[in-house]
Amino acid sequence: MKNNRRNFLKKTLYGSIALGITGYASLEHNTGNREKANEALASPEARHGKGKSAMALRCEPLPEVRIAIIGLGRGLGAVERLAQIEGTKITAICDLMTDKINSGQTILKKHNRPEAATYTGEEDWKKICQRDDIDLIYNATPWDLHTPIALYAMKHGKHIATEIPAALSVDDCWALVNTAEETQRHCMMLENCCYDAFELTTLNMARKNLFGEIYHGEGAYIHDLRGYKHNKTSGYYKMWRLEHSKQHTGNPYPMHGLGPLAQIMNINRGDRFDYLTSMSTNQYGLTLYAEKTFGKNSPEAKATYKLGDMNQTLIRTVNGHTLVAVHDTTSPRPYDRIHKISGTKGYAVKYPEPKIALEPDAHKFLEPEKFKEIIEQYEHPLWKYIGETAKTVGGHGGMDFIMDWRLIYCLRNGLPLDQDVYDAATWSSITELSERSVTNRSNSVDIPDFTRGKWQTATPLPVIDMETIFS
Ligand SMILES: NC(=O)c1ccc[n+]([C@@H]2O[C@H](COP(=O)([O-])OP(=O)(O)OC[C@H]3O[C@@H](n4cnc5c(N)ncnc54)[C@H](O)[C@@H]3O)[C@@H](O)[C@H]2O)c1
Repeated sequence: MKNNRRNFLKKTLYGSIALGITGYASLEHNTGNREKANEALASPEARHGKGKSAMALRCEPLPEVRIAIIGLGRGLGAVERLAQIEGTKITAICDLMTDKINSGQTILKKHNRPEAATYTGEEDWKKICQRDDIDLIYNATPWDLHTPIALYAMKHGKHIATEIPAALSVDDCWALVNTAEETQRHCMMLENCCYDAFELTTLNMARKNLFGEIYHGEGAYIHDLRGYKHNKTSGYYKMWRLEHSKQHTGNPYPMHGLGPLAQIMNINRGDRFDYLTSMSTNQYGLTLYAEKTFGKNSPEAKATYKLGDMNQTLIRTVNGHTLVAVHDTTSPRPYDRIHKISGTKGYAVKYPEPKIALEPDAHKFLEPEKFKEIIEQYEHPLWKYIGETAKTVGGHGGMDFIMDWRLIYCLRNGLPLDQDVYDAATWSSITELSERSVTNRSNSVDIPDFTRGKWQTATPLPVIDMETIFS
């Protein structure tokens, strides 16, 4: 194993890489996928699990990870990245649109990879999961298909890596946990922001105690998507994101902000989310955009959109810490994930530009020279090892590549994943729970303990120190 790991690193680096509301689950979903996939969903009663814990789950090491990629919007980027990682085989690709399938095959050819088997039917993901030559299902379909595909994949012996959110309801979060426990398969939500360079640097700094006890974090997904949501011709498949904005409020996409904070603040590993309160503004952005683009009397301008422009969700942990998750995809303002952490010895913030303040002089930010020195000193080992390759391959500045590389590394070496099914469930549950709070005058809502008490003994996510791993 020791040699295998070394060889894997070496080859990868220098070789072939060029790089509650119980009814929520039954709310309407625009694509119709949900109804068709309903039989794959577990009942609410299933939240009393029958399997053993999947905490720190180790599975059989896979010499080669055989992958099927389903959904080739963002999924095409996954084809590009995974084709450049040693030890992968892209066995199948699936999308309803043949032009996307063709693009997938072109990418494979460009990287001297064999053609993948192709699937184009609405429920072909079931056929894919039934194959016995696939280890990992990589799911980048619209939101309403995430849980059905994940459950079906695990029940057919596959590991699942699913785009965010892993589930849209608390019941579905429990179904993921129960199924991962029963099948002892990995269920990872692809929260790529956990692998961003600055976020990982702050994880490294936190583990080295530079911030002291971190008792507060703020994260966000602020990204002006008005044009994408209203795009009728080349936007989201069947305009799924606009439809979701019509039907739901709260924070539907909390994990870009919460994921890195949850890892740094030991959520599910020494602490856990206890309860939340959530508040949303009125909706303005989608209507104003529609009036301007399609006219005041257009159906788009007259439609009702439930999603408030700005949502703030405040979470308290059982250890007395707090987190804020902000969501805004419909306001004219620059992209922002905030990433603020506040501890007894220091403070860091990422947007609009990364800054750090440390005791004994934390009332002002570090001067640029000192900041640079700290960033270099605490650069995360993953970025030190494969950062240059990641930047070349790309995907949100390289973090997508780092995420995929690390996932494949863990699967090949039989290691627990950095993000497990409990993280997927906990972070995704905020989607429904924030909506419950918003629609009930921001009253507080309990957040389930998806670990069933295991958070008390689980160890914090370490700095992923490649030197230690490879020795
Ligand atoms: N982590 C990130 O940074 C990030 C960025 C963008 C999107 N995403 C997530 O990725 C997912 C996809 O987003 P997108 O922007 O690519 O959406 P999209 O609508 O552009 O692409 C979705 C694709 O899925 C296909 N599809 C739909 N139903 C299918 C089915 N039954 N079988 C096979 N394919 C099917 C569609 O044809 C389409 O090509 C979403 O969950 C989104 O939240 C994550």
